[in-house]
Amino acid sequence: FEDEGRGVWRYHETLPFEEGVTLPEGDTQLHTAPRLRDDIGVANLRIKHEGMNPTGSFKDRGMTVGVRVAQEVGVDRLACASTGNTSAALAAYGARAGLETLVLLPAGKVAAGKIAQAALHDARILEVDGNFDQCLDIVQDLAARGEVYLLNSLNPFRLEGQKTIGLEIMEEHYADHGEYPDRIVLPVGNAGNTAALYKCFRELVKAGAITEDQVPKLTGVQAEGAAPMVEAIQEGNDETRRWDEVETIATAIRIGNPVNAPKALPGIRETGGTAVAVSDEQITAAQRDVARQGIGVEPASAASVAGLRKLRRQGEIDADESVVCLTTGHLLKDPDAAAEAGRKPEPVPNDTDAILEHIDDRSSV
Ligand code: F0G
Repeated sequence: FEDEGRGVWRYHETLPFEEGVTLPEGDTQLHTAPRLRDDIGVANLRIKHEGMNPTGSFKDRGMTVGVRVAQEVGVDRLACASTGNTSAALAAYGARAGLETLVLLPAGKVAAGKIAQAALHDARILEVDGNFDQCLDIVQDLAARGEVYLLNSLNPFRLEGQKTIGLEIMEEHYADHGEYPDRIVLPVGNAGNTAALYKCFRELVKAGAITEDQVPKLTGVQAEGAAPMVEAIQEGNDETRRWDEVETIATAIRIGNPVNAPKALPGIRETGGTAVAVSDEQITAAQRDVARQGIGVEPASAASVAGLRKLRRQGEIDADESVVCLTTGHLLKDPDAAAEAGRKPEPVPNDTDAILEHIDDRSSV
């Protein structure tokens, strides 16, 4: 691609417009993580940190396109159901476009940073006494009745924008390593990103930019308490069974009915990837591991690294693989989880000598 435009819109040839409602988004870091790479035991490990987008998650890539479409269509009210990040992104991009925004959130299950964003960007926040999947049912009802323009990942224009994650990974990985990654490991909730990456790679193959065997293996990670995609992969099903009870510390992916499963399951299968479930303890441990390489991510994002570690341990991922883990959201999205996972503050007296004594006292470390 020519080096014109910025971020997502540099790839406008693959998008429905030349430009969108932009903040701007994309161009996120593809970090190295050498200690973690050696510890997990793969040839290459890069971390694509989507938490560095304007509102702190990959959702911005979809909203820059989706909200542009909404302007084009001439709607007056935007809406989404959300575990938090979609609502933060929609609120910001809706505000940028000057459109009214409505977000439906599962009461008590959205991280503090995300609600703060939606509130300050002036979205109307409807806290529903139910889970995310029920919020999405309602918002689909509202859209069907013509009351709102739906900006969840069921909206195909969102996924067009999210394809650019794949384009950036392929370009940068090739530039740095002279080859494409063997595998992309990503957290899965509604499976929109998985579907978007698969579409990206199919388009690259069709355009003759890469060959079939250069397509990275799409590897999805879910939390054990919300893993209908993993279940479908393991059982060889074309659809997911809806989980009515879901729970995980990774509230972003606390989802029991992944609406993009019909697009994403073939992506995982046909690229030779897999899906794996990880425990909340493994997610928190991975969040710490990534943070100790200087990269701050929210729990759902750390699931990708936890999944990589688990699959490597099980021998399902080989030591000679080049792997990219997608970290989808920023640490500050969920400050409570970060404080819980991290080192605790130490109360000290208001006195230099006492503080010196305290920091030299190894028992207080
Ligand atoms: N990681 C984060 C941080 C997310 O916020 C989400 C989804 C995912 C991963 C899963 O992505 O749905 O494409 O498989 N969050 C949505 C939301 C559901 O409402 O913010 P997916």
